[in-house]
Amino acid sequence: MDDLYRENIIDHYRSPRNKGHIEEPDIHYHDVNPFCGDEITMELKLDGDRIVDVAFDGKGCAISQASASMLTEEIMGKTMDEVKAMDKDDIMEMLGIPIGPVRLKCALLSLKVLKAGAWGLEDWPE
Ligand code: FES
Repeated sequence: MDDLYRENIIDHYRSPRNKGHIEEPDIHYHDVNPFCGDEITMELKLDGDRIVDVAFDGKGCAISQASASMLTEEIMGKTMDEVKAMDKDDIMEMLGIPIGPVRLKCALLSLKVLKAGAWGLEDWPE
């Protein structure tokens, strides 16, 4: 079963979804993983509280980039309240395979950038 999830991660890394930029995003935030320098930019377009468009850009390891790609699909159509409630467990569920402590920050980078852009939350998601 793990193989399926691994293949899905590799697929998102090789063919990222929603990669690029959107016009006049309501939220735009860029940050780096301080441990390795890998980068993610997240952009959101909102209609009221609901996400109606999302894009990411970045460069880095397979887990960080695949996780960002998956996150864009995950949050499309969600409300910002729903996004605010997302945490480490949601990302782990999304990836579907156990992630060791070293790669955890890779996996959480895009959610961290998203939350920092929306609410200025600087801590890594719990
Ligand atoms: Fe940099 Fe994964 S090694 S985010």
